Amino acid sequence: MSSVIILSTGTSIPSKVISNSDLEKIVDTNDEWITARTGIKERRMADENHASSDLGAEAALKAIEKASINPLDIDVVIVATITPDYLFPSTACLIQKTIGADNAYAFDLSAGCSGYLYAMQVAKGMIDGGGAETILIIGAETLTRVTDYEDRGTCILFGDGAGATILQKSEQRGILSICLGSDGGGWDLLYQPGGGSRMPSSVQSVENKEHYLKMNGKEVFKIAVTSMGNASVQAIEEAGLKPEDIDLFIAHQANYRIMDAVRKRLKMPTEKVFMNISKYGNTSSASVPIALDEALEQGKIKEGDLILFSVFGAGFTWGASVIKW
Ligand code: ACO
Repeated sequence: MSSVIILSTGTSIPSKVISNSDLEKIVDTNDEWITARTGIKERRMADENHASSDLGAEAALKAIEKASINPLDIDVVIVATITPDYLFPSTACLIQKTIGADNAYAFDLSAGCSGYLYAMQVAKGMIDGGGAETILIIGAETLTRVTDYEDRGTCILFGDGAGATILQKSEQRGILSICLGSDGGGWDLLYQPGGGSRMPSSVQSVENKEHYLKMNGKEVFKIAVTSMGNASVQAIEEAGLKPEDIDLFIAHQANYRIMDAVRKRLKMPTEKVFMNISKYGNTSSASVPIALDEALEQGKIKEGDLILFSVFGAGFTWGASVIKW
């Protein structure tokens, strides 16, 4: 039976570092609290000339080079983002132009921090259905642009970055399962009120800081642990496997305590969990492809390994996937 493989990965990590001690200078927080509650030590911030499409294009070009393909071979460009350059046109169209993927059609996908796995499911469906052979999927975010640096409950968490992957059909290995879910009932526990059609930009909306991300962290935390755990169990079962078969667990890097709670539910040893949250914080839909790229660079994945992805985000949305590398 044929499947879909991740042929290559690439990332874009802005050079500017915002450390916990930098944040201590602007909000009432401290390194000890942030480290103990989240596992984050620092995060990256894109410079003012770089938007999500710039990060996404850099990551995409690296993935294209590693895959040794021509940008003209790409049939579809899908960008998962909640921080697009513009409401329209799509960030995917901007990236398509920058990288010269002139034969592709391109669109954005909005599924909060779960966007990368949602894009993987869409891409898999297109390849399985015969409508495409080579698909570029990118998670690209500049969350620092929608973060309120007077709100200590959120500004400690988020950072900028992008991760890209090239997907193609494979005869021997690849995606074994993808399980996704959503619950719109939680929409207002994590959202950006201003700037859309519900609350168009106005002097008042800007003065009231409605263009910043708002979050009920405690509630999000609980639902994330349950949803990521349930999706992981389901994806492992659908792949015909047991949790102990998994070689590496790459979760959305939202909070090390969330990842650790899911790990405990799966009764997995800590060394099977890949974490880079200490360096980048939560980069939303970019976090899984960035972590995958780093795990590969560090030699933590070899051919035939079974990889579990698990994600959660605004919406609410969640999902998990098992891949045979
Ligand atoms: N520094 C110091 N103290 C703080 C800070 C801070 N940055 N933030 C909150 N506190 C205080 C609170 O005021 C509270 O004090 P009190 O007890 O005197 O009232 C105390 O610390 C505990 O606050 P909680 O909110 O209960 O802290 P919690 O352990 O829940 O951690 C956190 C907060 C880190 C936000 C956590 O809830 C979390 O990670 N939630 C999930 C967030 C998440 O993953 N969101 C992204 C989802 S994906 C997407 O789509 C974007």
